[in-house]
Amino acid sequence: MNLILLGGPGAGKGTQAKKLIDLYHIPQVSTGDILRAAVKEGTEMGRKAKEFMDAGKLVPDEVVIGIIKDRLAQADAKKGFILDGFPRTVPQAEALDKVLAGLGTKIDHVVSIDVDEEALVTRLTGRRTCKNAACGQMFHVKFTPPKKAGICDKCGGELYQRDDDNETTVRNRLATYNQATAPLIGYYTQKGLVRPIKGVGSIDDIFNQIVGILAAPKCSCGA
Ligand code: AP5
Ligand code: MG
Repeated sequence: MNLILLGGPGAGKGTQAKKLIDLYHIPQVSTGDILRAAVKEGTEMGRKAKEFMDAGKLVPDEVVIGIIKDRLAQADAKKGFILDGFPRTVPQAEALDKVLAGLGTKIDHVVSIDVDEEALVTRLTGRRTCKNAACGQMFHVKFTPPKKAGICDKCGGELYQRDDDNETTVRNRLATYNQATAPLIGYYTQKGLVRPIKGVGSIDDIFNQIVGILAAPKCSCGA
């Protein structure tokens, strides 16, 4: 199964992707995580990307398309993948279609997670993320606090606040989403792939909704 999780910053894409991995045994492919790893390593690409990320802007299409092309060609993506944070522009979506056609596959579902903007700001400004890249679990100081402050429940790693999780950058990220990424809902609706869900409620309830949608047969109308 090839799945795209679409939604604004903080909609819960990463949270749900981590749960879906356990059920479907397919990898999460997050361009945000790959870019943050490059920033941490101090590569040339990472240094350039950080300026865009800190400003709440998108990293140029050619950079992220190159990342995805390499990642989806890896062996573990052959049985399927969960795209989290890619595509984010119509040119990225068009490039993805071409990459997948070249690999002899296509997108099966696009789950579009909708959460109102003020809730997204609250979620992101309170998010804490595990520093251990192999884990990367997300917590929230109010909604999903770790058992021990500052320590990851899953792996014992240290928790940190992402550089772009401050209110000014979050608001810029929201504006970028509305301008560049929201049009993808129309792009994939035309292809009959969009499955919209409300991303508000418990993490488990939202997960169960997604699993139900993915298990349901598609109707002939494409809905
Ligand atoms: P990226 O890392 O993809 O960030 P994002 O899209 O802004 O998404 P987030 O990771 O902030 O949110 P999420 O939906 O994963 O939410 P989460 O599950 O953590 O991208 C970062 C930057 O990299 C971009 O701004 C851009 O510069 C660049 N970039 C990346 N991809 C790119 C691309 N394709 N093209 C160009 N540039 C690119 O949840 C958030 C919080 O809410 C957590 O604290 C969580 O615990 C909590 N939460 C989750 N679900 C619930 C719930 N149901 N109720 C209450 N709280 C909840
Ligand atoms: Mg994320």
